[in-house]
Amino acid sequence: MSTVVRLSGVTKEYAGGVRALDGVDLTIGRGELLAIAGPSGSGKSTLLHIVGTLDRPSAGTVEIAGFDVASLTDRRLSALRSQHIGFVFQAFHLVPGVSARDNVAEGLLYSGLPRARRRALAADALARVGLADRMKHRPHELSGGQKQRVAIARAVVGEPALLLADEPTGALDSASGEAVMELLHDLNREGATIAVITHDTEIAAGLPRQVRIRDGRVVADTARGKVAA
Ligand SMILES: Nc1ncnc2c1ncn2[C@@H]1O[C@H](COP(=O)(O)OP(=O)(O)O)[C@@H](O)[C@H]1O
Ligand SMILES: [Mg+2]
Repeated sequence: MSTVVRLSGVTKEYAGGVRALDGVDLTIGRGELLAIAGPSGSGKSTLLHIVGTLDRPSAGTVEIAGFDVASLTDRRLSALRSQHIGFVFQAFHLVPGVSARDNVAEGLLYSGLPRARRRALAADALARVGLADRMKHRPHELSGGQKQRVAIARAVVGEPALLLADEPTGALDSASGEAVMELLHDLNREGATIAVITHDTEIAAGLPRQVRIRDGRVVADTARGKVAA
């Protein structure tokens, strides 16, 4: 199995001395579907920012899709991010007033593909998430669950090496949330590598691998059979 993410001894200290991550080792292989779970303040968002190359560690090494993040300039890093990582957030972050299809096509803005091709791929991605009949709807004309499906389509339209979802069901009612998790399972069965960040132990328990963090440390990883105090 090839490796998509490899974190080794990753520490993140914020100004003021808060150590949000403390010696994190984490490897994610191609084709995995895992939860990164922990209570509020445990370091989940910090970890998402580092795995998503939105931020750099204070110490330790980060490799994404085979690239050592420390060796890349900010510019190369943002190119790596747009090519290899898809993001899904709790609050959807769709562009208001713009059709579902154009929102999804935005996920290919830096692909270098011509506009017509981007729109065709966006239509395919919307069909994959079950929204073939909502191409022209704008965000305010969609339910929360549908908005999150659009956001997921936008995140996967470029076939990234890694999909990072931060509390993807956090703003949804339980039925829509379950449908979104089912969609992530489907995409994973089709080959996508997906990490779901969540404080919800039930959601975490429904995924094939659980990495638990607390106080900035990995305290359990079912892939390693490691359970520390
Ligand atoms: N930009 C920041 N500056 C200073 N401290 C921060 C910053 N972001 C997060 N922290 C602190 O780092 C710790 C982990 O935060 P975070 O990664 O947001 O946790 P979670 O997402 O699990 O709630 C917390 O103690 C938080 O207060
Ligand atoms: Mg958070």
